[in-house]
Amino acid sequence: MSTALQDTFLDFPLLTTALRQCAARPEDTQVYASPAAFEAFIRGGGNVPLYECVSVELASHYAPDVHSLLDIGCGDGHALFPALAAAAHPHALERLTLVEPASALMASAVARAQAEQPTLPLQALNEGLGAFAAKLGPDARWDLAQATFALQAIPEPERWAGLARLRAHVKRLVIVEFDIPDLQRGTDAYVASLAQRYERALGEYEGATRELVAQGFLIPMFLGQLDAQTAATNWEHPAPVWREKLEAPGWRVTRLAHISDYFWAPAFMLVAEA
Ligand SMILES: C[S@@+](CC[C@H](N)C(=O)[O-])C[C@H]1O[C@@H](n2cnc3c(N)ncnc32)[C@H](O)[C@@H]1O
Repeated sequence: MSTALQDTFLDFPLLTTALRQCAARPEDTQVYASPAAFEAFIRGGGNVPLYECVSVELASHYAPDVHSLLDIGCGDGHALFPALAAAAHPHALERLTLVEPASALMASAVARAQAEQPTLPLQALNEGLGAFAAKLGPDARWDLAQATFALQAIPEPERWAGLARLRAHVKRLVIVEFDIPDLQRGTDAYVASLAQRYERALGEYEGATRELVAQGFLIPMFLGQLDAQTAATNWEHPAPVWREKLEAPGWRVTRLAHISDYFWAPAFMLVAEA
């Protein structure tokens, strides 16, 4: 690491503390399989206005002719269920399909569906996009598929192959991701950008919640983006790359717009027709 970068790290006291605490921990953390930290993260700090905005944007796609909805990587439904509640007119859904490989998050999403949408027929598939897309029969159809901050958590070969297969089964795809800076992994500029963004994220939480969010979510994410020894948990891109990768197998992108500012990077919504 260059001296300039070492000096830069002195500007990040929260990150430095969290990294020291992480170094003293014996075990690896599975960020979605043990989701207490992730769930605390998305319910605090800048995630509160972010999720409110995302749910309102999703709700605008639940038109009267949308009868079937697929949520890929739904997590605990923190974007989905407020969106269903926010639809301007009662939504016209006749079935909801959830695809989520993390069992604990899926259990929370199913409990929430039963509490908030008790009459909506539900299919809950505890698997990843790749396994789900690989076994779709010719009659499998949805009016709308959505994925909020989930595609970034899917390794690229599985993600792009899954989305290409999905095109024959879904009329419209709506995704929300972050328009991250276009920096080359491993460069000083990349590391400094990550450090700045994680410092800001840690500053949005306090006390025991900060420690939970740091050790159970943010630091494992940070190390996965930095350190070749730690398994990566997300693979992001600038927004134009998402457009290009979706257009390659034939998706027709009709909207690509920033919808919310956020500590990490602006969130964007991309809408594509099959
Ligand atoms: C950042 S969370 C987003 C969750 C939710 N969509 C939301 O907006 O709060 C990423 C989600 O992607 C899920 N995920 C990880 N690998 C996946 C895969 N191969 N297929 C589908 N979802 C996956 C994770 O379990 C997690 O729930």
